[in-house]
Amino acid sequence: MGDSCNIPDALAAALRDARHVCVLTGAGVSAESGVPTFREAQEGLWAKYRAEDLATPEAFLADPALIWRWYRWRRGVVADVEPNPGHYAIAALADLVPRFTLVTQNVDDLHRRAGSRDVVEFHGNLFEDHCFAEGTVHVADDSHDIPTCPQCGANLRPGVVWFGEAIPEQALEKACAAAADCDVFLSVGTSSLVYPAAGLADLAQQNDAVTVEINPNPTMHAERFDFALAGNSATVLPELLELLSP
Ligand code: APR
Repeated sequence: MGDSCNIPDALAAALRDARHVCVLTGAGVSAESGVPTFREAQEGLWAKYRAEDLATPEAFLADPALIWRWYRWRRGVVADVEPNPGHYAIAALADLVPRFTLVTQNVDDLHRRAGSRDVVEFHGNLFEDHCFAEGTVHVADDSHDIPTCPQCGANLRPGVVWFGEAIPEQALEKACAAAADCDVFLSVGTSSLVYPAAGLADLAQQNDAVTVEINPNPTMHAERFDFALAGNSATVLPELLELLSP
């Protein structure tokens, strides 16, 4: 079968023969929904802050009200957008391969809203509140400047993984197991700068998976992938889906 758009025949064959496909997504997958990527300049009153300086336990302890204002702004941005064709293609892909694992670095919940199930949320979820003291999970409560834990009274924090914090153990285990077992690994919309997420592609390659990067701006690691598709996820992912659709 000829190349579909710019999908190499060898990649199309690998996808059709795959027993297990693992997809890792980053902020680029949500870019076409209108959600700024993590390293794009922040907007408006947040322009004077770097995301990396706000997404830390130290910043929260120093000024919980400021950090809650930032996360509630981010919740508002995401609540106002919709999943894009890239999210929907990933959700549909899961039903066309024998085994499928989606690992996301995104906290915007757009994969679940697009129909993806069992999403491995590597960096948590923007719409959960966690007790800062006990780690218990609570439904997001935007009615207080600084919500507190109903069990112990400690401040609640956004349910996301901050810089310097460990990846949730179950998410890490599932992601590593999938990367080590899969036949095709798609790294989509991520700058591959932050570990351990960025190391999943290496784990896949060490276990003889075919590895693919999908990004309009090839990353510094592009050469370590078997295929680097320079395109937008909302365009390329539907093309991959079309290849597998009966
Ligand atoms: N389709 C695919 N990729 C895109 C698109 C698009 N339409 N638009 C932008 N990109 C790419 C950019 O080229 C960039 O390489 O998405 C990538 C986004 O990179 P980052 O902003 O660094 O986001 P991400 O890789 O998800 O960051 C990883 O770092 O700071 C932590 O927790 C944070 O989860 C985040 C993690």
